[in-house]
Amino acid sequence: MCCTLRFNSYICKLKNVFYYSKTYPIMKVLILQASPRANGNTAWMAEEYKKAAEAAGHEVTLVNVSKMKIAGCLACEYCHNKGNGACIQKDDMQELYPLMAEAEALVLAAPIYYFTLNAQIQAPIQRMYCVNKPAKVTKMALLVSSYSPGVYDGAKAEFRDICNYWGAENMGAVTAKIDEQKTEETKQKVVTLAGMLK
Ligand SMILES: Cc1cc2nc3c(=O)[nH]c(=O)nc-3n(C[C@H](O)[C@H](O)[C@H](O)COP(=O)(O)O)c2cc1C
Repeated sequence: MCCTLRFNSYICKLKNVFYYSKTYPIMKVLILQASPRANGNTAWMAEEYKKAAEAAGHEVTLVNVSKMKIAGCLACEYCHNKGNGACIQKDDMQELYPLMAEAEALVLAAPIYYFTLNAQIQAPIQRMYCVNKPAKVTKMALLVSSYSPGVYDGAKAEFRDICNYWGAENMGAVTAKIDEQKTEETKQKVVTLAGMLK
């Protein structure tokens, strides 16, 4: 009896593993969080996305790029000439290049500053110029905070064009103006977006 039960639970586990691996491929997810406000809404959404993606079995790395020293691209073309794909600027972007190279899903989390994504997220995106695109990224998502409503056109257009250029699926965006920040409704939207990684 005991043996039968154990056997059945073993078969059940095998079925689960088979079902799980067939339905939900595990992805390496990289989240770039660009708000300098540690307790702000962008950091909160990035954490909620991470929790939801991890709960679904994905491998998630969350990087606070606002704390990193990442300069703008110099357009010196060293990378395309002598550099053989390497950037001449040896700043904190050097830590990000290997993570970008391994990521299969990329999440950009940033506040709106003057009607567009803030500078802290633009710098790492534009510094990808030396390698053109993240080699393995197939899916991308966007998390955006703002004070006002209706300020997302620039951010969404940029995000759409980057997805197209990098050949990644645009999984969509969650936006949160001031009265939508850290609410249960916004959390559910973030969880739903993370659920699209499957
Ligand atoms: C420099 C700066 C520019 C901003 N520009 C805008 C703007 O154009 N539109 C807007 O709705 N909010 C703007 N905001 C407000 C932020 O987007 C808003 O406070 C957001 O919630 C910040 O997200 P966080 O709390 O995750 O840092 C700006 C804030 C700063 C500091």
